[in-house]
Amino acid sequence: MNPSFPLLPARASSFAGEVDALFFFIVAVTIVFTVGISAALVYFAIRYRRRSDDDRPAEIHGSLALELTWTLIPLGIVAVMFVWGAKVFFQMNRPPDDAMTVSVVGKRWMWKLQHPTGQREINELHVPLGRAVKLVITSEDTIHSFFVPAFRIKKDAVPGRYNTAWFRATKVGSYHLFCAEYCGTEHSKMIGKVVVLEPEAYQTWLAGGPPAESPLVAGEKLFTELNCVTCHRPDHAGRGPVLQGIFGRPVNLASGDTVVADEAYVRESIVNPAARVVAGYQPVMPTYQGQVSEEQLIALVTYIESLQVPTEGAPAPAVAPQR
Ligand code: CUA
Repeated sequence: MNPSFPLLPARASSFAGEVDALFFFIVAVTIVFTVGISAALVYFAIRYRRRSDDDRPAEIHGSLALELTWTLIPLGIVAVMFVWGAKVFFQMNRPPDDAMTVSVVGKRWMWKLQHPTGQREINELHVPLGRAVKLVITSEDTIHSFFVPAFRIKKDAVPGRYNTAWFRATKVGSYHLFCAEYCGTEHSKMIGKVVVLEPEAYQTWLAGGPPAESPLVAGEKLFTELNCVTCHRPDHAGRGPVLQGIFGRPVNLASGDTVVADEAYVRESIVNPAARVVAGYQPVMPTYQGQVSEEQLIALVTYIESLQVPTEGAPAPAVAPQR
């Protein structure tokens, strides 16, 4: 294969091999059936062609064995594709717990990225080799799609929503990053690169930039600056629900439903607080839509995620006190 025109991009992530294997399996099945069916078609057309005007074929009233064969074999093959595909899908959609979180914000026409330690990058992402990296992806304006062919990952960046993807880079190098969703005139220029570094080189790279404020620290500051802290007090005396320990837990809503307080719910509660109010509270919180940027929202979500229950045996904050 010509290396300057490779049929497939480099395989540089932990699941690239499996994605390719599944892809080749599907291609092989497709080729076998396309060739087999075409050959049978040609063979039958010649073998059973009409030889004279009064040539009448014998009537056939079906064959159970034949019909079972052509039903069960394809069923088995597509079942393999389904189970294998589902396995890869779940693997790609379940980031490991020890993954480092990088936030990704798509914007016409650039990718804005931020490391957990606060370093920001545009159209370039430096990651350590062998470490799981979880991407929390959103957009400021329209739908973009974060696509790194060498890692076999592609995930839409949707405004108002957090999508996650993850990868573990397995090869040092620089890989293309594309926007894979048409997003306007400069869509084709919304490109960049992901640079995989040895872990030590990554640490050196991190230290080399200007001092950075981590999303966690930025979020804590914002929480005070925006006066969130006045209502969301840890002692159940505020007008809003206690946020300590809430992240990742189910929350009872005024509507009677339950929702898990994940990134999406916390984000929604900041920009559209009346949408899903916690049971036992009034919908008094003003919206922060337009007052906080996507980066600031990510910082606030990161901070709220970090909040732990302050004292041993404190009542579970997920259950709002009735008043
Ligand atoms: Cu962003 Cu295409």
